[in-house]
Amino acid sequence: MSSQSSRPDLIPQTTADAAERDYFFENPPPPALEKHSGQAKEFIDFHAPAGRRVVLVTSGGTTVPLERQTVRFIDNFSAGTRGATSAEYFLEAGYAVIFLHRQFSLQPYSRHYSHATDCFLDFLHEGPDGSIVANEEYQSKMLEVLRRYNSAKKQNLLLTLPFTTINDYLFVLRSISQLMRPLGPDGLLYLAAAVSDFFVPPERMVEHKIQSTNATETQAVPEQTTKEQNEEETFDNFDSSPTVPRSKRLIVDLDPVPKFLKNLVDGWAPEGMIVSFKLETDPEILVRKAQYSLDRYQHHLVIGNLLSTRKWEVVFVAPNQSDTWIRVPRRRKKMTSSGIENMVGELGDKPLDPKDLPEGEPEMEIESLIIPAVEELHTSHIKRTRGTR
Ligand code: PMT
Repeated sequence: MSSQSSRPDLIPQTTADAAERDYFFENPPPPALEKHSGQAKEFIDFHAPAGRRVVLVTSGGTTVPLERQTVRFIDNFSAGTRGATSAEYFLEAGYAVIFLHRQFSLQPYSRHYSHATDCFLDFLHEGPDGSIVANEEYQSKMLEVLRRYNSAKKQNLLLTLPFTTINDYLFVLRSISQLMRPLGPDGLLYLAAAVSDFFVPPERMVEHKIQSTNATETQAVPEQTTKEQNEEETFDNFDSSPTVPRSKRLIVDLDPVPKFLKNLVDGWAPEGMIVSFKLETDPEILVRKAQYSLDRYQHHLVIGNLLSTRKWEVVFVAPNQSDTWIRVPRRRKKMTSSGIENMVGELGDKPLDPKDLPEGEPEMEIESLIIPAVEELHTSHIKRTRGTR
């Protein structure tokens, strides 16, 4: 790796500056960075003079490669539903959308027909003249989705840019948010991607596929040595399953990925509104963690969500405002004297218990409530920023 002395001369003012300088110096830029930055610049330059609001929506999970020639990587659960659905509602609200998404995750509009349990070919049949026809029962929805998609494309309102690894994501996030500066407060960053907190730094990453056996090694290991090694490994404190020799297991040593939210707020896009998401699995800590994130990074809104209930409810945590839960109506069957009837779930200030939720997906997309609420806060942000100039 490059030596410390050849780092850029920039003198970091804060720990966040130093983390930024080190990360972007030590990790190589992705090959597509220039191309994607060029596309983003063109898109922003197109919309900025018209005074249109532009949102950067990040979506899907980032991979963490374990090898340079990557065979294995660490990934996470995110399919990009939140990001792709939100992007559609932002378009409906008149925003121009840069959709920075994990390659092959869900995308606005096409999400209605991809990643589904039904194969998309099941929506189609062959017409008498050999043309392809959508099945009758799907036609009206498909036509509506197609029209909305074509309208977004025709007006150049949607730019989709893919990423795969955590490194791709961080480089392109920095570049696009810096390009968004000319938008001032009209820029909105909506960070819904599930970004890895850990990675293998380049100096520790092996070039080739990590081997599971040493079968290709030609020299035989003396029996005595192997026995001694195994015995030694049995007494290794680090070893949680001493029956498997350490040499046969894969122990992955990851470094923390710097959080660049502070850099986003202070330097990359200082006037834009920044919305981050906080994902937790433990309802007891969600709001506290969201508040901590807001205090630490001093941005404008944290949307908290729990893995098990994220399609049913989220909580808005914003400075100088009380926490607001947003929920879609849940219908559940309830026995009454007149039989079984539907009931809309009650509201409250505590997270829902997943056990109380009906099976399957909610009837309403929660993003249809999230985006108008974000838009309202964005309007206040624009007024506040412009008013104080
Ligand atoms: O795709 P779906 O299946 O619909 O799921 C949607 C979602 C649950 C992934 C989404 O709603 C969500 O919560 N996304 C953020 C998850 C997350 O990464 O949370 P976090 O606590 O690790 O990070 C908080 C914020 O910091 C995020 O906005 C993230 O973009 C940012 N971050 C995270 C890690 C990192 N190294 N740098 C960052 O800037």
